[in-house]
Amino acid sequence: MTDVDARLNASLVRPQLNDDGAIRHFLGVEGLNKAQLENIITKAMSYFDQDGKLTNTEELAGRTVMNLFFEPSTRTRMTFEAAQKRLGANVLNIDIARSSTTKGESLRDTLWNLEAMSADMFVVRHNASGAAHFMATQVTPNIAIINAGDGWHAHPTQAMLDMLTIHREATKPFDELSVAIIGDIKHSRVARSDISALKTLGVKDIRVIAPRTLLPKGIERYGVSVFENIDEGVVDCDVLIGLRIQNERIGSPLLASSSEYFKAYGITDERVAKARPNALVMHPGPMNRGVEIASSVADGPQSVILKQVNNGIAVRMAVMALSVAGQDAYKGL
Ligand code: NCD
Repeated sequence: MTDVDARLNASLVRPQLNDDGAIRHFLGVEGLNKAQLENIITKAMSYFDQDGKLTNTEELAGRTVMNLFFEPSTRTRMTFEAAQKRLGANVLNIDIARSSTTKGESLRDTLWNLEAMSADMFVVRHNASGAAHFMATQVTPNIAIINAGDGWHAHPTQAMLDMLTIHREATKPFDELSVAIIGDIKHSRVARSDISALKTLGVKDIRVIAPRTLLPKGIERYGVSVFENIDEGVVDCDVLIGLRIQNERIGSPLLASSSEYFKAYGITDERVAKARPNALVMHPGPMNRGVEIASSVADGPQSVILKQVNNGIAVRMAVMALSVAGQDAYKGL
């Protein structure tokens, strides 16, 4: 059997979990059960000391992690790198814009060459939905793939940092919360992963608030309630999650103007006041102030937007440490 045959054979079925349910690749929150999501939250919490400051461990000491960001990113890329360094990993960042991808090399060939440089883990962001799954089928066993966002499809570490933030900041358990996701649901991988994680963790009242043009067809099938009127949708919510209009994913402009959109769907102080007192205001970033959210709300007392960023480090530490442990168990180490 050639090397290529062996890789393709090994890849035919490559689940993200071991037989015992341990994570090997972290590709999506779909397919993970409540206990598995709670385990990620518990593991992430273990990285905070008594004063709530992040700590360091050696769980990835001697491992080489490569960050492959084919799409722009500030928070996700930097918090992954911060997390890798806190876990003691050797970190390599590939500058995609200056890599051989621009000379026509396929994703598979890039991957195999990077693998030959002794990678133990790839963290990948790609504009193609399914890119992380594809990579998990192409690498040799024991190399972990972590999805840092693939096309419109999934952004599982963002979902888990959102869940960690709700766990730390909300005053009620998940199954008593009303959560609203507001904005461009249709083009948002964050919305898809958030809805899945919220449902798995037991949230019964999930609302999506957007104009029809920014809602995927058949969204009701996800078990969410749909509001085209934000002033009705936010009433008595415990958590408001704002989303950016994903202009880069929209072929033709769907909105008359940013100021019209802000009037109709912007998260303003008046609208936050219609939610529960002390409702959390969240946003994955990057934020467009004055379009989907008012500056006074983004910087206001109910905003936990910068806490989300800090929680992103702990969640990414947890996911990478669990994946390496899962890979070791798979290898029988
Ligand atoms: C999100 C993303 O890239 O999907 N941002 C992030 O990871 N913090 C959301 C967005 O780009 O709007």
